[in-house]
Amino acid sequence: MSNIVELENVVKVYELGEGVKVEALRGVNLEIEKGELVSIQGPSGSGKTTLLNMIGGLDKPTSGRVVIDGVDITPLSERALARFRREKIGFIFQFFNLVPLLTALENVELPMIFAGKLSDEEIRERAIELLTLVGLEKRIHHRPTQLSGGEQQRVAIARALANEPSIILADEPTGNIDQVTGQKIIRLIRDLNETLEQTFIIVTHDPTVAKSTKRNLYLRDGKIVEKLPETTLKIPANILKEEKRQLLLAELRWLKTSINYLQEKKEEINPKIYYNTLYSYKSRFERIKRIIKEYNLIGGKSS
Ligand SMILES: Nc1ncnc2c1ncn2[C@@H]1O[C@H](COP(=O)(O)OP(=O)(O)OP(=O)(O)O)[C@@H](O)[C@H]1O
Ligand SMILES: [Mg+2]
Repeated sequence: MSNIVELENVVKVYELGEGVKVEALRGVNLEIEKGELVSIQGPSGSGKTTLLNMIGGLDKPTSGRVVIDGVDITPLSERALARFRREKIGFIFQFFNLVPLLTALENVELPMIFAGKLSDEEIRERAIELLTLVGLEKRIHHRPTQLSGGEQQRVAIARALANEPSIILADEPTGNIDQVTGQKIIRLIRDLNETLEQTFIIVTHDPTVAKSTKRNLYLRDGKIVEKLPETTLKIPANILKEEKRQLLLAELRWLKTSINYLQEKKEEINPKIYYNTLYSYKSRFERIKRIIKEYNLIGGKSS
């Protein structure tokens, strides 16, 4: 198994001037495998947000190395980091949020416009699909101020997923929202993690969120400790079935668009990259089709 995230002795010191320093991270070593679902807990001020900022390339460590998907991102320029973030990372941050002047739909479209891989029409289609996925199909033309906290958070999730990032970093994704919506968001995260093998790193104060992840990390005074997982949350398969099916069907449509697009651009793409990408899209396509079939079988038995 390959690590998608590797932190080697990461130290982050904030200088507050007049010789005052805060050691936010004090030598963090961490390895996360591709497709893991990890929660990070810890008291306020223990360095959780700082840690996510390091992994997402939003800030640089004072010393140590951050290796993402085999690439050491610590020496990268601002420009290269921006590109890295755009291609690899989805952020769901409370205070790193939506553009106030844009509608929910436009907010979700934005990262896809920046990525420049799809046509305007495809971008719109996918944005609507993602907003439907998070249950906001009736709010697509609302601006952030016209949405509740939980709705804004869901728009942020749809936006974070737009470019199919391999790593999704969430800082208190269920923070200021009610329990039912929080549960839905966690279920969505679990589904995405299981079916699309996206890696999730979730900072949370909420023990039920932490219980629903397979691996629990704790930060204390800028150092990390690992705790063995407690009982995992079990959600009855039949309740989730329809939601999961919808999610998978959306993903299939998206993969189909991606494969078509790739094939259209074949001549312009380095052949090695072309075949590797095509292979990975196609194998994912097949995998998802298999999973959908299995769900249908379960449905046949229980109904
Ligand atoms: N930009 C900054 N400049 C100076 N100090 C900072 C900065 N960002 C964070 N800190 C300090 O670093 C420490 C870790 O902060 P961080 O935001 O990572 O904590 P946290 O675990 O996310 O807390 P919370 O649960 O309250 O969000 C804190 O003592 C904080 O005051
Ligand atoms: Mg924080």
